[in-house]
Amino acid sequence: MSIRLEIFDDGRWADQVAGRWTSFMEECPAARLCLPTGDTPRPMYSRAAPSIDFGQAEIFLLDEFVLPAGDPARCDGVLRRDFLAKLETPPAIVHALDAHASDLDDECRRFEGLIDDAGLDLTILGLGGNGHLGLNEPGSAAESPTRVVRLAPATRVAAKDRYGSTTEPELGMTIGLRPILDSREVWLLVTGPNKTEILDRMLTDPIGPDLPASFLREHPSAVVLADRSAAG
Ligand code: PGA
Repeated sequence: MSIRLEIFDDGRWADQVAGRWTSFMEECPAARLCLPTGDTPRPMYSRAAPSIDFGQAEIFLLDEFVLPAGDPARCDGVLRRDFLAKLETPPAIVHALDAHASDLDDECRRFEGLIDDAGLDLTILGLGGNGHLGLNEPGSAAESPTRVVRLAPATRVAAKDRYGSTTEPELGMTIGLRPILDSREVWLLVTGPNKTEILDRMLTDPIGPDLPASFLREHPSAVVLADRSAAG
């Protein structure tokens, strides 16, 4: 099995991906969606939010940093700002991992139970510079569940330097690779020249936990949606 790779000119990437999302939501308005945060999806969210009706959709936020509420890197706040605040009609339900739960392991099990009720119709992901998916860092097995994770050094630095966290987080919570790989459809978004090398490795390195994104090559319905800068 080999993963599909679609490449768009940089200036057209966001429109193309938003257009694909529009078609998906027209066919499946009550979709159960797993959505990421980060720099990559932001332009897609800006295009898609005003033009797609998400009123029947159920959304699962992919991951969360264990940081104080309101920290600029918190994924719940970023999803609200980049996407939810731009919608005319709010989605039917938005689920987010609660980084303040008294027992974070229990919270991850609760969340995975919600996903498993009916699975995910579409999971949209960014590609971490170290090959992570969500916060499934290198070393994550394909069967890994939704769980608390110790963050890789590069992820901790990115939380502070790129996403503005007040302190480097040590822990995160993430939907596991198992529910991601069980999703009926997966779109991996990859943009910008700083992702060229990891995209190449993701497509050509041996499939395995050293590079969690490589597992998508075994998914029956996954596609990489890259801009020309990332495709190199
Ligand atoms: P980015 O993050 O979209 O901000 O590059 C992707 C990731 O680290 O998963």
